[in-house]
Amino acid sequence: MTDPAPAEVPVLLTGATGFIGRHLLARLLRADRPVLALCRDSRALADLAHPRLRVRAGGLEDPECYRPFLTPEVHVMHLAAARGIPGITAQVLRQVNVTATLELARLAARAGVARFVYVSSAFVFGPSTGSPVDETRGVKSREAPTAYIRSRGEALEAMAALAEQGLGLVAVCPTIVFGPDHPRHPNRITGYIRSLVRHRLDLVVGTGSCVRNLVEVEDVVRGILQAEARGRPGEAYILGGEEVTHREFNRIVLDLAGAVPRLRASVPASLALLAARCADLLGRQEEGCGYGAALRVLTTDWRYSSRKAAGELGYSARPFAEGMRRTLEFLGIRP
Ligand SMILES: NC(=O)c1ccc[n+]([C@@H]2O[C@H](COP(=O)([O-])OP(=O)(O)OC[C@H]3O[C@@H](n4cnc5c(N)ncnc54)[C@H](OP(=O)(O)O)[C@@H]3O)[C@@H](O)[C@H]2O)c1
Repeated sequence: MTDPAPAEVPVLLTGATGFIGRHLLARLLRADRPVLALCRDSRALADLAHPRLRVRAGGLEDPECYRPFLTPEVHVMHLAAARGIPGITAQVLRQVNVTATLELARLAARAGVARFVYVSSAFVFGPSTGSPVDETRGVKSREAPTAYIRSRGEALEAMAALAEQGLGLVAVCPTIVFGPDHPRHPNRITGYIRSLVRHRLDLVVGTGSCVRNLVEVEDVVRGILQAEARGRPGEAYILGGEEVTHREFNRIVLDLAGAVPRLRASVPASLALLAARCADLLGRQEEGCGYGAALRVLTTDWRYSSRKAAGELGYSARPFAEGMRRTLEFLGIRP
């Protein structure tokens, strides 16, 4: 299915300098869409210069940067978010992912913006305990292990209320995204692939059998554009790919890279947790913001279904191995 993008509709894009945002921006410009990118560093997109691209310098926390550009003609694609990396504070996560995000959505609703595509996270629907989770479960992030997931869930719930008041909101919830990245915003999974192939250490925590859903970045970009064109206002769509365990992930990557592991080992989960707790104590990490929380995510099953996006948007994702081949090629790794 080809991109159903409304060719002349201008886009106000946040998070354009980020991992997914750069891919989306490049795709929009290839389709010759007019884009206004809101960036904290206006020079960060110099390499993507294009006659249809305007860059507006400013942070999400300052509505005066973007308010003049919220008009009924524009479509907003909101990707900017504070990442859940160890060391972040719950206050920054709330400030960017909840307060500033909701202010943007409120002002967009007030300006009569027809389409507001909000990129959230599938993690807000909670972990799986058997079959894959879908959107019918609703947001289940209050008990989530990380403050990042909690912030995303809180914002999505508040956004849904704004949608009931008329905001043309369509939320997309990618699972775990990987693919070609940029030094400014290295992707976590792609960084792990680099290190796995370089060191050839096939290490997992526990049995390495926890299941995660991974999706290649170009599939997510396509899903965002499909949501813009076909998503039902007020609805959320999970954008996922294939399920893999940590052990399978290592094996597939090393096989595709033609590399033989130097060491294959399992770190007992209790030992990993102890090390994570020590690191969090030494680094004075807040609850939900450190390595312990990240480890709880790693040792939980997160299985998701993209059936709703497939049925309503025409979404589909490539097989994991195909996305991985593309990523390895980008990294210059060949068997
Ligand atoms: N990557 C994944 O696996 C994944 C999975 C599910 C959902 N998502 C969601 O998808 C979206 C994009 O993810 P990503 O991986 O591309 O993230 P990313 O690489 O970390 O990029 C984050 C973007 O947000 C911008 N940003 C952060 N704080 C900001 C602020 N206060 N004001 C303005 N801009 C700000 C960053 O700008 P600077 O360049 O100035 O830092 C950057 O452009 C996020 O909402 C993320 O939560 C990602």
